[in-house]
Amino acid sequence: MAVIVAPSMLSADFANLGNHIDLVNSSSAGLFHLDIMDGVFVPNISYGFPLVETIAARAKKPLDAHLMIVNPERYIERFAQSGVDYLSVHIEASVHLHRTLQQIRDAGMKAGVALNPHTNITSLEYILEEADYILIMSVNPGFASQKFIQSSISKIERLKEMIIKRGASCLIEVDGGVNGENAGALVKAGADILVAGSYVFGSPDPLATIDSLTNCSR
Ligand code: DX5
Ligand code: ZN
Repeated sequence: MAVIVAPSMLSADFANLGNHIDLVNSSSAGLFHLDIMDGVFVPNISYGFPLVETIAARAKKPLDAHLMIVNPERYIERFAQSGVDYLSVHIEASVHLHRTLQQIRDAGMKAGVALNPHTNITSLEYILEEADYILIMSVNPGFASQKFIQSSISKIERLKEMIIKRGASCLIEVDGGVNGENAGALVKAGADILVAGSYVFGSPDPLATIDSLTNCSR
């Protein structure tokens, strides 16, 4: 399967948002990655439903929302109504994760489980079949432009082995500090979806940068 690139709109220029949405629409990216932060689960506040709905109205590719919030189960329906297609919740923020994943699927979205850097993949043992994708955080969630945590590569390798061994079909998404230096190794380790924020929007030619990530395994 070809790698799917998901530009994180947190690093887009909000004063120029329409153009940056169009840029992703016309690129080889497969998803829009939307980072939702509540200032409680993570020490930062990003944006909420008005911006998600603005992006949904103009986006021509599916929206992948990454909830870095406590009690994510409260907002599942609302994100579905806002036009989100992929919804991930943090395992560290979900008391009834099994039920929450079912609710996300029942709402018509793909269900994702996000893991902080310190969280072991063994915590997925009883949940793997309920998830459409696992999001491996390769930085501590909360901010763009952080340094990639190198051990994420072996974590993805081990998760890929676990998925194959179990005959599960979930995809692996990696998020945080992804760039041209680590993308090839991440895909080789088993990553299916590469999230990239500052590397894409901070580059002089974001379209070419997205292309280079899309083609990094070739
Ligand atoms: C971090 C977010 C990431 C972040 C990625 O909490 O989940 O999606 O915006 O930004 P970069 O690619 O700059 O690390
Ligand atoms: Zn994210």
